[in-house]
Amino acid sequence: MSKSISGFSKLSKSHKIDWIVATYFNNNEDAKNIIKQYWNSNIKLQQLHDEFIENTITNYYLPFGVAPNFLINGKMHAIPMAIEESSVVAAASKAAKFWLERGGFKAEVLSTTKIGQVHVMFYGDPKTLQSFFKHVKPKLIQATKTLTKNMEARGGGILDIELRDKTQSLDNYYQLHATFETLDAMGANFINSCLEQFAKTFREEARLFNGFTEKEKQVEVIMSILSNYVPNCLVRAEVSCPVEQLTENTSINPEEFAKKFIQAVKIAEVEPYRAVTHNKGIMNGIDAVVLATGNDFRAVEAGVHAYASRNGQYSSLTHAKIEAGIFYFWMEIPLALGTVGGLTSLHPLVKLALELLHNPSAKELMQIVAVAGLAQNFAALRSLTTTGIQEGHMKMHLLNILNQFQATDEEKNTLINHFKNHTATHSAVVEAIKDLRLKNNK
Ligand code: HMG
Repeated sequence: MSKSISGFSKLSKSHKIDWIVATYFNNNEDAKNIIKQYWNSNIKLQQLHDEFIENTITNYYLPFGVAPNFLINGKMHAIPMAIEESSVVAAASKAAKFWLERGGFKAEVLSTTKIGQVHVMFYGDPKTLQSFFKHVKPKLIQATKTLTKNMEARGGGILDIELRDKTQSLDNYYQLHATFETLDAMGANFINSCLEQFAKTFREEARLFNGFTEKEKQVEVIMSILSNYVPNCLVRAEVSCPVEQLTENTSINPEEFAKKFIQAVKIAEVEPYRAVTHNKGIMNGIDAVVLATGNDFRAVEAGVHAYASRNGQYSSLTHAKIEAGIFYFWMEIPLALGTVGGLTSLHPLVKLALELLHNPSAKELMQIVAVAGLAQNFAALRSLTTTGIQEGHMKMHLLNILNQFQATDEEKNTLINHFKNHTATHSAVVEAIKDLRLKNNK
């Protein structure tokens, strides 16, 4: 059994590595070399990365790609994407190029409200709690003035605080349910600081409130935290074109394609097993841009999937229809994103990604991210309902398989050419490498 350790966090980086390599890799120098080969020779840059998280021993690279040709609300974008999965960037690029010739994407931010809650247990009369809340609400707002001053000067801040009675779900449970406008910041620190101040003031004022019995004065604050469920921080992305323009491929009838495509979306609307995979495809695009722009993809994922279940069953995030001969494909999703604060000014590649996107406001970034998700879903559904997913996916995955077999550049060139005219499955690629090597050894 491996040893436990106390004080690991206090060790230097190289001592941390020594301990890991001694304890888990039998002092194998290869393990140490793999860890160290990802260090950046620019010491300052490496230190910056070391300090993003705790106990850093090395860097974990993800490819940073670009999908060009996105026309969004009449403006051209090349979208940065950080992702490990082959075919995602190609699929986004292909969808962008397709819609570029059909008027591009339209996107609109529908709302930008964020939510935070103070979770409270109150052991007394709900009506007295309501009258206490009326008394304390202005004091809660007042107590956060130093925190909200700058945000208010920019036009944001606290929008409202409500007292919510949740005792139907859990005995004695109430919430201070607060709404916020955080403008270009994702706002997590701002919201959490306001909530913690609400909690402090709420508890202190309860102790002094004459209308409460001694027991009621002991309001218990369980926790104060923002919600990553942001159904009122919503963005809509859409594409549309006359049905007859829907394929550029003469072998595919556009009407049939449109009908099949819409059925595929409808299946994802009613069938959760399909909806999860369908939405995973959307998140391929969304997560990649969220990561590249230094935003919190876990928060986005959690919020988006909660939204996909808002009607009681997990369902498709995208929708499609034909109306008066026009094909429409659209999506509305909640996205709480920031273009200031967090990693946005710290991480050089994140800064570059935002510059590439013309330094968007949070609202503009919401639109770009939603479009990337919609484009990704369009590409995946187009492949799924025509050629099948494997043809394009395996074409892109080919290099990964060749790399697994340490193919030389010459072997790669030969086999890439070969698979332009042959279907690339894993076993077909393995066979082709073996055949090529046999032939070359003759
Ligand atoms: P293709 O028609 O073979 O591509 O499509 P092409 O060689 O004719 O090139 C057309 C355009 O595609 C290019 O234009 C690029 O925009 C793009 P160009 O740059 O030449 O002017 N493209 C590329 N971009 C960058 N690098 C490349 C590249 N190749 C083409 N190497 C393609 C090939 C893969 C794009 C197509 O088959 C496709 O869109 N497939 C869908 C792939 C996909 O959805 N992948 C996601 C991973 S699978 C998954 O996880 C999700 C899923 O389960 C979700 C679901 O079930 O709904 C499927």
